Order: sequence, then C-alpha cells, then structure tokens
Amino acid sequence: MFEQDLMEASDVDAPHLLDVAAGVSRRRVLGGGLAAAAAFLVGGRSASASAVAGDGSAARGKGSLGLLGFAAIPPGFGDEVVVPEGYTARPFLPWGTPILGSYPAYVPGTPPLVPGGNTAADQAQQMGSDHDGMHYFPLARGQRGSEHGLLVMNHEAVQESYLHTGTTTAPTRAQYTADMVRKSQNAHGVAVVEVRRAAGGEWEVVRGGYNRRITAYTPMTMSGPAAGHRLLRTSADPEGRSPLGTFNNCAHGYTPWGTYLTCEENFNGYFRVDPGAYDAEHQALNAEYGVGGDRNSWSTHDPRFVVTPGDPNEPNRFGWVVEIDPFDPTSTPVKRTALGRTKHEGAFVQTSRGGRVVVYLGDDQVNEYVYKFVSSGNAPSMRARGISPLDEGTLYVARFDEDGTGIWLPLVHGQGPLQAANGFADQGDVLVKTRLAANAVKATPMDRPEWTAVDPVTGLVYLTLTNNTDGGKTVNAANPRKPNPWGHIVRWEEAGGDHTATSFTWDLFVLAGPGAGVDGSSVDAEDAFGSPDGLWADPDGRVWIQTDGRQPSGANNQMLAADPGSRHAAGRPELRRFLTGVIGSECTGVVTTPDQRTMFTNIQHPGENGGSTWPPQDGLTTPRSATVIVTKDDGGAVGS
Ligand code: FEO
Ligand code: CA
Ligand code: CA
Ligand code: CA
Repeated sequence: MFEQDLMEASDVDAPHLLDVAAGVSRRRVLGGGLAAAAAFLVGGRSASASAVAGDGSAARGKGSLGLLGFAAIPPGFGDEVVVPEGYTARPFLPWGTPILGSYPAYVPGTPPLVPGGNTAADQAQQMGSDHDGMHYFPLARGQRGSEHGLLVMNHEAVQESYLHTGTTTAPTRAQYTADMVRKSQNAHGVAVVEVRRAAGGEWEVVRGGYNRRITAYTPMTMSGPAAGHRLLRTSADPEGRSPLGTFNNCAHGYTPWGTYLTCEENFNGYFRVDPGAYDAEHQALNAEYGVGGDRNSWSTHDPRFVVTPGDPNEPNRFGWVVEIDPFDPTSTPVKRTALGRTKHEGAFVQTSRGGRVVVYLGDDQVNEYVYKFVSSGNAPSMRARGISPLDEGTLYVARFDEDGTGIWLPLVHGQGPLQAANGFADQGDVLVKTRLAANAVKATPMDRPEWTAVDPVTGLVYLTLTNNTDGGKTVNAANPRKPNPWGHIVRWEEAGGDHTATSFTWDLFVLAGPGAGVDGSSVDAEDAFGSPDGLWADPDGRVWIQTDGRQPSGANNQMLAADPGSRHAAGRPELRRFLTGVIGSECTGVVTTPDQRTMFTNIQHPGENGGSTWPPQDGLTTPRSATVIVTKDDGGAVGS
C-alpha cells in the first residue's frame, strides 16, 4: 500500500543534513572496509572488476563492461509502463483475472452498489488485488522450466473504492454488506497460478489443478515454539493452533525445498478495538503493534475483527511468516512462529555453507528492526527427521555499531533481559512479543526495514530502508539522516562470509534522493529515486531496486538496477532506471524465469488517488493492479 507518511514535508535544516550524510557517506561508503571487501569479492565477476579498480566514471554508458547492458530511461510521469529501448512490457494477470472454478470474468463493482458486478464468490476464483512479492517455481527441468511454471504472488491490499464502486468513491460504513466484506477479504491473500509460454511467445494462464487462491479465510495451522500459546487462543480456537487466513501480505520468500513464504505486514489496521478494560499485557501489545483502525470496515459484518477484553487475541494470530506449498493445492498453510511476530515485510532465505537455512526479515515501521533466523541444524537432515528447519532455530535482531561492525543479538528466553520478570515467561512470549523482546536487548532502530536480498555472487546482504520522517527518531550511524524522506540501502557482510555468524561488517550502499548530494543523496542526479522498497539480486548479481512512495520531482514509482561492482569517481554505485510505473502506483515484486529471459514484476494500486485507467488493454476505466511481463526483444537475459 502507498505510504501516506511519505508525503510529509521535510523540515530539515539542509546544510546540517548534508554535513551529516556526507560525513557518514565518506566514512562508510568510501573509506569503509566493506567497500574494499566488496571490490575484492566481485573480483571474480570478470566484467565488473575493471570498473571497480578504475576511476569508475568510465563505467557508465557506452562501452561499459559492467552488468547493466541497457540504456537508462528518464523518470516517468504518465499512465504507462516504460522500459528501455529493446525491451517490451505487457500487463498480465490483472486483479479479477479468473483462475479457478467457474472462471468468472472480471466485472467492475459489487452488487448492490454496482448491480451485476463481481461477488465475493467470484473474487475467490479470481486474481486478488495489489500484487506484491512474487516468485516463479519452474514445473520442469531445463529450458522447459523457463516456459512453464507456477507464479505465486501476494495480494497485499485492496482499494475499497475500486473494489465495490469501480470509482474513487468509497462505500460508507453503512453501505457495507456481508458480501462486500467477504469480497474484500477474498481479494487479499495469495494466488498460485500455473503459467505457460505459448507457441507465439506470449504467456498464458493454464486452467489446471495447481491454481489456488488463499484468502483471509483459508484454514491454517501454527507451528514452532509459540503454537498453542495462551496469547494465541481465541473463543473460536481455544487450542490456539488453527488460525484462519492471511492478509496484508507484502514481500515474500521461498525455500530450497520448493515452498513459498508470505509475510503478514500491516495486519494491525484491519481490527476494531472495542473500548474496555484490557490487561496490561494486551495494552502493551496493542500499543506496540498499533492494533486498530478498521481500515477496510471488515468489523461491520465480521466479529472476528472486533477485539474485546474478553476475546482479545485474534490480532496476535497475525504478523507471522506463512509457509505455503504451491505444488500441493490441498496443503494447509503453516504460520512459522519461530520467525517472530512483526510487521513482516519479507523473508529472504539463504542457505549457509553448512546447510542451515538463514532467513533475513525486515519489520516495516519507523524505528523498527531487522532480524534473522538461523535453523538449528542442516536443513536436509532436519527435514529427513520430519522437522521443519523453520520451526527450530534462533531468531536474532541486529545492532549496527558506529565503527561499521554489527552484532546479531539472540532473542532467546532466559538470556539477558528476556526473563519472566520482564514479561517473557517462555519462548512463546518472546515470539508473540518479538518487538518488545527486541526493544529489551537494545537493537538498532532503523528507517523502516523493507526487503532484504543476498547477492549470490558476493554473499553481501542488502536491506532497503524506505524512509523515516519521524521527528522523534534518534540518528545512528546506519540511519544517518533526520528526517530521511528519501530512504537508503544498507548492506553487510557476515563474519567470515558465513550467514550463520553472529557478527558482521556493514556500509551504506546508497543514500537515495534527488542526487548529486542534494539532501545528502549519494546517487547521480539522473538516477534520482526515493523510498526504496522491493529488492532482488538476480543470478548475475544485478541488484534490482523498486520504489514505493515519494519520488524526486514528483515522478512515478520506478525500478532501477544497480551493478554493485561498478562505482563512479564519487563512490556512487552504477545505477540505471529500468522501468517506470504508472500514476498512483508502486513498483513491487520482481523475479525472472531461471533463464532470465522473462521478468515478472508488479504494478500495485494504479490510480490509488485517481488519475489512472491502467492497464489500457482492458478498455475499462477502473485501474487494476497487475503483473508486467518484461522481455528483451532479442531474446536475451533481462538487464544484460
Ligand atoms: Fe508493504 Fe513495507 O511495504
Ligand atoms: Ca513493500
Ligand atoms: Ca510499501
Ligand atoms: Ca484500463
């Protein structure tokens, strides 16, 4: 969803900000050990090494030997998706596309507000709205796997106005019916879609048995240390192990064993909290997670979304990472409590040299933290013993120190302040109250941690920090600007290159903004961007950066690619703008087929505040979130 808080005017004292950011950027980006380490690490990446070693400025443009083989495009302001010359972009799978059951065609609106529109039952057989994190699972080995697979994606949110009225006019609370509430719930969640590249080269939906919609009502289970915990029990589920559904699924992850991870982000806003006498524990939990708001009016017809002192735990059953087996449409999704409860943005899974799984996790709110989970053992051997590697392990939270090093602080019951006297009587308490546990161990507050990604070439971990306009924030070395309306990207190297390590070294990869030092930004003016959110390192090590929020010059959101091994004379990374989105949309979710010849990326909430009719191909005026398929006209790898 578009982040309204990004639109606040900056009240910064500019010269002071420049001093702070420039000083940090010199120390961390130019002088830091990690930049040198990165240059060393990419030495094996033949094309980039010369750019790193040289004066850098020659790396851009014609003749570049770097990873980026396309000409950058200018910022976008129109209602069309633009990609570089030599590339083609086509919308695919817009909200409402039928994928299941009786395959009901998309019709704008909902009866009775728009008679003849799609019902809740229709919506459950169609693509949801607000396409977000996404992964492609091949259905065959070799080249055929790049032409036939399962596209699995999150549907983060809906615009209640477009959902029911087809216009920017939202229904009043009094106008809601039970079917309208259920339609909204069915437009959330996850879609699994079998897709195939047909003879003509165009991708199509296969009307097969894999296709599935997971919604806010899909039955799920909970596993890990918090399953069955007293704080997860409700009147409808006294065992605390059988939650219903998932919603506000933002970014994602995928495991080496072929499952998809969907992350529950701003779950808090879907509940109405009734007044009454809540105990201190629930008061603290609801305050920490900001429970309340009833943003989609679900409470008007669904008592599950009304929190009461007598039945206060339903919100605690959200804020988790959910594992889905896309290859088994009858499988029950599992909420993996060992990964903690936050406003999870994403869950990037990296396998360590010893075969343990490591999951990097951002918690997207101002002054929240970045986490990682490390499985207790080798993942294949755990699975062979019938144990999920996502159920047993250690959750850590990051502390970034001033000297460019950092520590992973364990969130383990009985260690340090995580004792019964402080409200942590067991590991379930630590996990349901993850944010409170991280506060207690004094993790480093960050500028809204979004996606993480590991560069497969260097092993460096990248983290987008989208922005922070909180006037009360405390500046720290890893979050040096106050306010920080444009955001930045931090990266780190785990000690010894071991992703299970408990210490790391870090630097500031890029400080976003208008460029050329304005507002402290460390990008060239032509690469201006703000509010980095989506992030993915492709198999060659191109780092794809997607934005959601305020852009310099008021441009549309966009996707850029970075060649992290190439640097300009001023230490700025080689960035090129690859795609510009449409009016009122964010760019989010990106993956390619294994052969890298087809890229899938998402345009979320076009025309959130009006002004868009995208995509144009449907001839309809109601804008619709959709995937975009990007191919290179010569059939080559996207970005090359
Ligand atoms: Fe759903 Fe933090 O973006
Ligand atoms: Ca996001
Ligand atoms: Ca976002
Ligand atoms: Ca249209």
